[in-house]
Amino acid sequence: MNKVALYCRPGFEKECAAEIVAKAAELEVHGFPRVKENSGYVLFECYQFEDADKLVRTLKFNELIFARQIMVVGELLRHLPQEDRVSPIVGMLTGVIENAGDLRVEAPDTNEGKELLKFCRKLTVPLRAALRKSGILLSYESDKRPVIHVFFIASGCCYVGYSYSNNNSPFYMGIPRLKFPSAAPSRSTLKLEEAFHVFIPADEWEERLGSGMQAVDLGACPGGWTYQLVQHSMMVHAVDNGEMAQSLMDTGQVTHHRVDGFKFEPVRNNNSWVVCDMVEKPARIAQLMADWVVKGWCREAIFNLKLPMKKRYEEVCQNLELLRSQLKENGINGEIHAKQLYHDREEVTVHVRRIWSAVPGRRDERD
Ligand SMILES: C[S@@+](CC[C@H](N)C(=O)[O-])C[C@H]1O[C@@H](n2cnc3c(N)ncnc32)[C@H](O)[C@@H]1O
Repeated sequence: MNKVALYCRPGFEKECAAEIVAKAAELEVHGFPRVKENSGYVLFECYQFEDADKLVRTLKFNELIFARQIMVVGELLRHLPQEDRVSPIVGMLTGVIENAGDLRVEAPDTNEGKELLKFCRKLTVPLRAALRKSGILLSYESDKRPVIHVFFIASGCCYVGYSYSNNNSPFYMGIPRLKFPSAAPSRSTLKLEEAFHVFIPADEWEERLGSGMQAVDLGACPGGWTYQLVQHSMMVHAVDNGEMAQSLMDTGQVTHHRVDGFKFEPVRNNNSWVVCDMVEKPARIAQLMADWVVKGWCREAIFNLKLPMKKRYEEVCQNLELLRSQLKENGINGEIHAKQLYHDREEVTVHVRRIWSAVPGRRDERD
């Protein structure tokens, strides 16, 4: 199998392709992307046969911005016979992988893809049984073994391959299924909830999203993101000239500041979090967030970068580079990750975490 398949938001195939080409080249893997606009996926065909596995194993999935999932796949299986769709798929995986821990029969996140999902669900049961019988799939689910992906792009037409469970998205189709909380004042609440799932490991939630922490929400109204922080029992400074939902103000956990988010300064340096959803030029937001982290006003930040119409990958890279260089210049050891989340549209979400400060005289609040 010499191809890498990546799922992405439909309409962002070019960005996903530009990113895989650039990141593969850094690992000295060369190949070419196959892009079909609005298809919801990209293929990267490696010149060297074994490079597809190398990429999927070593290219850090959490450093990819536009990919929702990454996997090794073989040639497209076409015209699967209606009477037996299972055998060609099993044949494709025989000798390639054994004792996989999970099976996902998937389709692109497009309208056509949605129509295939019913069939995908139907095929999963007999396919799972056959894969178990042949030793390709373990007889029990394991999140420590590779995942088998069968990716239908049209009726009777699929790619078959695998991803590594320690370097993939744990979600079916790369999409976390979140339920809109009816008490939240806006749907964008799901963006911050998804960001927490993607950027903060579940076993660190208590420590990093814990009760009684202080948080600042810049561009907070009507309060979808503040709602998430309140749900985590945080005390929130909500900064926005608009109206905050009364239900949030009634919790007693929210202080509303009707001021410009670019001018707001916290009174104390005790904020665990700043989150920012202001609709502004990405470079202005990146600079503002760099300032917050450099000044030690927060330990972690989550914010959106709205994307321009063109050169979207380049724009994201420039802004991430700005953040990286400012942290470096100021002796801040930080982690920066960016992802186009399922709930993001023309934007990506960035997470910055200050690990420790190397600036003489500045002490981490936790010291
Ligand atoms: C996309 S909405 C935020 C939605 C919010 N995150 C939620 O979940 O409900 C953007 C908000 O940013 C606010 N905003 C834009 N520029 C701002 C600024 N310079 N200072 C403060 N708020 C600003 C707007 O008033 C608007 O309420």
